[in-house]
Amino acid sequence: MSQPLPAGTLAGRTALVTGSSRGIGADTARYLAQAGANVVINFRNKAPRAEKLATELRALGVQVLVVGADLTDRASVDEMFAAVREAFGALDLLVLNASGGMEGGMAADYALTLNRDAQVGVLDAALPLLSDGSRVVFVTSHQAHFIRTTPTMPEYEPVALSKRAGEDALRDRIPELNERGIDFVVVSGDMIEGTITATLLERANPGAIADRRESAGKLYNVSEFAAEVALAAVEPIPSDNTRLVGDTSSFGGE
Ligand SMILES: NC(=O)c1ccc[n+]([C@@H]2O[C@H](COP(=O)([O-])OP(=O)(O)OC[C@H]3O[C@@H](n4cnc5c(N)ncnc54)[C@H](OP(=O)(O)O)[C@@H]3O)[C@@H](O)[C@H]2O)c1
Repeated sequence: MSQPLPAGTLAGRTALVTGSSRGIGADTARYLAQAGANVVINFRNKAPRAEKLATELRALGVQVLVVGADLTDRASVDEMFAAVREAFGALDLLVLNASGGMEGGMAADYALTLNRDAQVGVLDAALPLLSDGSRVVFVTSHQAHFIRTTPTMPEYEPVALSKRAGEDALRDRIPELNERGIDFVVVSGDMIEGTITATLLERANPGAIADRRESAGKLYNVSEFAAEVALAAVEPIPSDNTRLVGDTSSFGGE
């Protein structure tokens, strides 16, 4: 993994990445730690994976807190931020990466509960720890960001709609965040090679990944996209608060 952020860029800063036990969240947490940030690793189920990552990141010389919290459970979220306050006192960076909605056996409105309501709930719970100079990064997919103008696969549509609803609900908070000196940016990417989501969609729609790869010219892998999320944590905020990763010419307007 080539490091997108120069060593020391985030020295002394504290970052929480939701859903960082695996996938894009885990690689993002690793990049932030390599840049010197103290990191809070949040997971829902995969405690051993989160602990393994924590051990690896502590070896870099940063402090790491591992907190299990189901983001759809407000009490659990409040406990997570109480633990963050006790360990670090404040938060400089909140990366809203955790996502879901394609899991089996969940309530019909689970995607909306996690991808919209829980995202806003996490922001609310984090606000007392954020201050002037802090930043919030929301991670999403092009299939969700552009869902109003570009249809997606039927299996992903409820997730896409719920993630866009979450993005919109967070965007509504930009004036309030900016008043407090807190930056907000959305990072959106195409389907990511090698992820569970991409595998599930490919299973339901054989050839879907190859089609997307052809339309986009290239699909990012997990570490490449995580590098873009890490860059979003430090680079200047675009005027529309949006960073679109890779080619988006096959998507309509917003
Ligand atoms: N996959 C793609 O093709 C793709 C493309 C573009 C953008 N993105 C975006 O990138 C982000 C990460 O995607 P990914 O594919 O890396 O996801 P993933 O592999 O499915 O990982 C999801 C992470 O979220 C956590 N999580 C799920 N439900 C949770 C809950 N209720 N409470 C707390 N944590 C929860 C999981 O924790 P456990 O491990 O403990 O279950 C895991 O760490 C998402 O925002 C996604 O929309 C993904």
